[in-house]
Amino acid sequence: MNIDLRDHWLLGSVEIPGRLVLAPMAGVSVQAFRRQGRRYGAGLVCSEMVSVAGIQHRNERTLGYLRVGADEHPLAIQIFGSDPVAMAEAARMVEAAGTDIVDMNFGCPVKKVTKTGAGASLLDDADQACRLVEAVAGAVPLPVSVKMRRGVENGSRRCLEVGPRLVEAGAASLTLHPRSAKQMYSGSADHSLTAELVALVDVPVIASGDVDSHAKAQSVLATTGAVAVMVGRAAQGNPWALREIMGGDAEPSREEVVAELLLFMRETVRELGSERAAGFLKKFYGWYLGRGRFPRPFKQELVLLPSLDEVETRLLAAAPGARFVLERLLDELPDPTQDILLDSLPISIYGGG
Ligand SMILES: Cc1cc2nc3c(=O)[nH]c(=O)nc-3n(C[C@H](O)[C@H](O)[C@H](O)COP(=O)(O)O)c2cc1C
Repeated sequence: MNIDLRDHWLLGSVEIPGRLVLAPMAGVSVQAFRRQGRRYGAGLVCSEMVSVAGIQHRNERTLGYLRVGADEHPLAIQIFGSDPVAMAEAARMVEAAGTDIVDMNFGCPVKKVTKTGAGASLLDDADQACRLVEAVAGAVPLPVSVKMRRGVENGSRRCLEVGPRLVEAGAASLTLHPRSAKQMYSGSADHSLTAELVALVDVPVIASGDVDSHAKAQSVLATTGAVAVMVGRAAQGNPWALREIMGGDAEPSREEVVAELLLFMRETVRELGSERAAGFLKKFYGWYLGRGRFPRPFKQELVLLPSLDEVETRLLAAAPGARFVLERLLDELPDPTQDILLDSLPISIYGGG
């Protein structure tokens, strides 16, 4: 049976137009990535994890993560922290920034985060995890979702104890990445746990982990009963993976690849300013141009070029027809000046955009 990934579903009161969700990824999920994800079929996109402490201290870079584009909805902004009062205040800021859903990170395995009592460490402290969900759900009228791992230790089934309690505390949806925090990204995501979680709770569950093709998406949806699949690494520099998952063509032409990369570069410069964007973009060259699409030395060459203008010129020389694809993409895109900006967000950090 083929499950239609275009089916709409409800996350709390928010209608999600499709069963493919673009994963939150720190250092990746900028606006340009999220907008692209929506164009290629994602029904819901997510910001990267945003520090509640950073929001509290009005850190410029952190506030930059709260910039919401008019064409991103529905969007979830993900926050992480360990103090209920600060979490509640951050949720109100995130609401003011224009998000549709507040997502809470109970899955980050990185020591810098877990040692503060945030991220995956909350799976070992269900009482505190529930207090945080209650505080956030009580602070905003928006639906609140939680993204978690299976537990901290390998083989842990903690998500099955904690998940239902989080729902009682007010979570309108749960996303499960069924690897342990210890595992980081090794081994494989055990979606038999996702199926168990689906059976335990009466809110929509999103399945995250190792979904990289139409066939995999279909099998995860069919075997777990999850309402949607979330896709992360497969979509890095590769929106065509989303297109294939939705039932379309997998392989883009060289011109399409270069045009999407150029658009991504321009949008990222507008978002981060050219200096930050130059560093940020380096990992994307390999992601876009790899997978056998361009010879390996070409990526090395781009990384060494001194300016983004030169990268652009070199890319267009490699695929001259990309110019026309890019023009068409630019014509189809909505006006970026429609973005919502919080009053308190300093415009300067956006490189004038
Ligand atoms: C570079 C990177 C950054 C990530 N950052 C976040 C994050 O900020 N918040 C979060 O909940 N998960 C984060 N994740 C986990 C992903 O959202 C996802 O659950 C995981 O990668 C498994 O899905 P995949 O196999 O489709 O990549 C990150 C993953 C990667 C690879």
